[in-house]
Amino acid sequence: MKSIAVFSIKGGVGKSATAVNLAHAAATTGGRRTLLWDLDSQGAATYLLKLLPKTGVKARAAVSGEVPISELVLQTEFPNLHVLPADKSLRRLEGDLAQSDKLKLLRKHLKALAADYDRIIIDCPPGLSELADRLFRAVDLIVMPSIPSPLSSRAADQLRVELQRSHEGKPPILPLWSMADGRRKLHRDSIALHPDWPIIPYASAVESMAVHQAPVAVVQPRSPAARAFAGLWAAVEAELRKN
Ligand SMILES: Nc1ncnc2c1ncn2[C@@H]1O[C@H](COP(=O)(O)OP(=O)(O)OP(=O)(O)O)[C@@H](O)[C@H]1O
Ligand SMILES: [Mg+2]
Repeated sequence: MKSIAVFSIKGGVGKSATAVNLAHAAATTGGRRTLLWDLDSQGAATYLLKLLPKTGVKARAAVSGEVPISELVLQTEFPNLHVLPADKSLRRLEGDLAQSDKLKLLRKHLKALAADYDRIIIDCPPGLSELADRLFRAVDLIVMPSIPSPLSSRAADQLRVELQRSHEGKPPILPLWSMADGRRKLHRDSIALHPDWPIIPYASAVESMAVHQAPVAVVQPRSPAARAFAGLWAAVEAELRKN
């Protein structure tokens, strides 16, 4: 099993869109047993897959180990794709994770889930929080979307410095350009600084995921955005093979 955190210090950069489309690609094109773990109390990834928070089991109780995490799992309409849904209770998860006996909790969950899944993709809330710190200790790869701007490559560098400082440079980061708009000079100039990063275009197909509550490969399978996410999935798999 390989685990991937879709993370950024910044909000609104396309993390949830990326997590959902990567998870769908892993499960369908990749044929991997895939779990999308929504760790953001906003529940955007859960919503984008047409799911509701699980009734009877609070996400916080399952993640903090009060009830077995398997009880939180939901099936999606797609083969091979399951979800650990989010709900508002996750707003208080940070406090739980700070307790000394829970430092390795996320790692333990991932280990336990490894028997059932080949790929676990985690949609993270923004920010360098306690939760992010715990995740960095547990996952195999960080996928980091950035909207093209001169500050974006600085954010990637800052995250690398942070990982070097507190996690011996692990896990590796796969940065990508998100919502890239080729008509804007600032976007073109920023992308030119890192032309090797995968590019997801700014596209109405991605916006309409929220209307149809489905991945872009379902909403508009032939769109450039769908192709871009398929390419991103291939890049993620290639990165995972390196480690
Ligand atoms: N490639 C894209 N083209 C156009 N719109 C996009 C694209 N990616 C994301 N969006 C839109 O931008 C908004 C933010 O996207 P998303 O929720 O994925 O970001 P996020 O980083 O998860 O945000 P948050 O930090 O709040 O969790 C959403 O309205 C989404 O539909
Ligand atoms: Mg999000």
